[in-house]
Amino acid sequence: MKNTPHINQTAEIAETILLPGDPLRAKFIAENFFENPAQFNAVRGALGFTGTANGKKISVLGTGMGVPSMGIYSYELINIFGVKNLIRIGSCGAIQENINLYDIILGIGSSTTSNFGSQFCLPGVFCPTASWSLLEKAKKSADTLGMKNIHIGNILCDDAFYSDDSESVNKWKKMGILGIEMESAALYMNAARYKANALCILTVSDHLLTKEATTAKDREISFTNMINIALTLA
Ligand code: HPA
Repeated sequence: MKNTPHINQTAEIAETILLPGDPLRAKFIAENFFENPAQFNAVRGALGFTGTANGKKISVLGTGMGVPSMGIYSYELINIFGVKNLIRIGSCGAIQENINLYDIILGIGSSTTSNFGSQFCLPGVFCPTASWSLLEKAKKSADTLGMKNIHIGNILCDDAFYSDDSESVNKWKKMGILGIEMESAALYMNAARYKANALCILTVSDHLLTKEATTAKDREISFTNMINIALTLA
């Protein structure tokens, strides 16, 4: 068992891990979707569990919100704990008219307002992307499970949930961004740099054009679709 400043390992961590932002959602997933879950972390309330799903070993860890938090957990999971497949399952705000509440978005690329990539000192702009193997498998699983409202494209990883720039959503919309969340760029960059696979699967929890928002009860149901896709990726 290994230790880092953020993970005090008390059980095995699988090669494939689901990464919701909310630690209580991690607990919910372990209790309701895993067989024989064992808790592997509780440091800072970042609850982590390992069990099996569809006969395969799988883990889940609540990462908290934002790029720095995802940067820490994804770095440690890959480099210290040997995790190979990291699948963020989260919510996003949609910014296109043809996307509705509860639809699912698979993020091919992660545009970002974050400066996380500056640490890599590249002589240009890096384009963080999902791993094709996971993306292809997720799309096939969604089709097999009969899910219709799947959108695949570019997402925005934003540093500010409460932005002072009232024009920014419209500008990103014009560039074809499907939805806004806050962690994907760190996940995709760390996966690229440290040679792991990553994918971001999002459920639309609110619509930034229409100002519609989901209810807690409905979110639970719609998250089930996203989790069912993610569980096939182990
Ligand atoms: N912005 C950023 N992250 C989000 C949003 C949003 O509007 N909705 C859900 N996660």
